[in-house]
Amino acid sequence: MFITLEGIEGSGKTTQVENIVAFLKDKGHDCVVTREPGGTDIGKKIRAILLDPENRGLDPMAELLLYMADRAQHIREKILPSLSQGRMVVCDRFFDATTVYQGFARGLDVKRITRMHDLVFDGLKPDVTLLFDLPAKVGLSRAWNEINSGSRDGSETRFEKEDIAFHDIVRNGYLELTDLEPERFRVIDASKSIEEVREEITKTLSEELEKIK
Ligand code: TMP
Repeated sequence: MFITLEGIEGSGKTTQVENIVAFLKDKGHDCVVTREPGGTDIGKKIRAILLDPENRGLDPMAELLLYMADRAQHIREKILPSLSQGRMVVCDRFFDATTVYQGFARGLDVKRITRMHDLVFDGLKPDVTLLFDLPAKVGLSRAWNEINSGSRDGSETRFEKEDIAFHDIVRNGYLELTDLEPERFRVIDASKSIEEVREEITKTLSEELEKIK
């Protein structure tokens, strides 16, 4: 099973990854945890370019192609081999992020992005996508609190530095995707406490595991 986590900055995905893996392991599943960008050694170098706040001049098309390069490496080096060994893959962000950030928010053609995905990734899609949803203002202020307190990497703030309108587009873009594929997306109310979110995820994943029994 291929599970992806999506959401705006400060939505708490990364905080919940450990709980998700502990839950799946407890149910007897062997898990691989990974993320985009940066799920491979080569990807980590691409991530540094993509998230460096100094790279203000990065062209949107170059940005898109760097995310695609990271993903091509990641899929072939890590995701497909893990899935074919029967392991569960839990990935913090995947191609929906490209649709909303580079498509909806940067304004690149979404149909073209979808065609690129079909061409390069041969239609690989997650089985389940947990969307951590909350108002952009709340997420962004959480993210900046974490950056200012040092619990989040201050060298990776290129997207956090975008204005609130950008993050509103991202949030609404994700919600639009859930309407297009309601069977794949499970929306988690990420404005709740860490414990409440953990409980909602456990309930959701229990239902998903029932489906594949
Ligand atoms: P994160 O690891 O803290 O979630 O940061 C990754 C950043 O990269 C986040 O701001 C969203 C952005 N991103 C894209 O713009 N497009 C993509 O395809 C992916 C995977 C991430």
